[in-house]
Amino acid sequence: MLVKYAIVMSIASVVIMFYLHEYHTSTFIQFRSVYAQLCSTVIHLHTVVLKWFNMGSDIDLRGKRKEMLFSKEKLKKHTDGSKGLYLAILGKVYDVGKGEKFYGPSGSYHFFTGRDGSRAFITGDFTESGLTDDVIGLTPQELHSLHEWAQFYRREYKYLGKVIGRYYDTEGQPTPYYHQVRKLINKAKRTKQEESIEKLSYPPCNSEWSQESGSHVWCSKMSGGIERDWIGVPRQLYEPGSQTHRCACVRENEIDGPFKKGNIKEYPDCNPKSTSCWVYS
Ligand code: HEM
Repeated sequence: MLVKYAIVMSIASVVIMFYLHEYHTSTFIQFRSVYAQLCSTVIHLHTVVLKWFNMGSDIDLRGKRKEMLFSKEKLKKHTDGSKGLYLAILGKVYDVGKGEKFYGPSGSYHFFTGRDGSRAFITGDFTESGLTDDVIGLTPQELHSLHEWAQFYRREYKYLGKVIGRYYDTEGQPTPYYHQVRKLINKAKRTKQEESIEKLSYPPCNSEWSQESGSHVWCSKMSGGIERDWIGVPRQLYEPGSQTHRCACVRENEIDGPFKKGNIKEYPDCNPKSTSCWVYS
């Protein structure tokens, strides 16, 4: 309705200006600054009228649902079917009503409703103190998993707005805490990307263990979930600065090369060209 009003009024303004320009050219030129002024006043008036019409509405001028701001107390009221089932994650509120079997009063995840219990999505601590929105101290991997939960809610449920508090201020603007968490999540995302690139270049080995024979690692054209047209040889791949290693399949033409500079080690007592090694600890 409001959008239609805006379109009709704008078209009407353009038609009037066109008419004046075409049929009263001399008058138009003489008074063009007056017309320009008139035009901007009309546009301004349209905006005021539109905003006035739209006051108190849940829908914005583009016809989209307005973002709501929730105090903690307001959010707390949405824990049952009558007032709706809402939960927040990383400061953003979602309507989880369609997942009533999980979030309804008798659902196994009811405790997430009416609050922001972000940390518990990772720790699994569903006590009152565990259900907190404070996520500082979680590892980069944990923050990455939390970000994936947040994306899950964005995908599956209707977004409603923001909680005023740790992540957003009273105007709905991000707080310094939000930026701090965002930075950590972005860092975790980059690490994850680097890891998956490394996984493509150095796919994890196949492995098996038995009490009688011990541990055995080997490479094949499909290992560690990576399908490829080369097999490779098993090597111990150390993360920079770390004492721990994983078994990686390394292309045969790379084994004598300068790659990874000392981060790749042969398995003791294993033929360097063998595609399979026994691991002796
Ligand atoms: C940190 C621990 C855990 C958290 C935070 C968590 C959280 C959740 C949430 C929020 C849902 C609802 C998802 C939705 O809205 O669709 C869910 C569903 C489910 N969870 Fe968990 N969960 C945890 C651990 C577990 C464990 C250990 C099990 C199994 C032993 C489990 C089994 C399930 C099952 C079966 C569903 C239903 C899946 C479906 O029907 O689509 N969860 N979980």
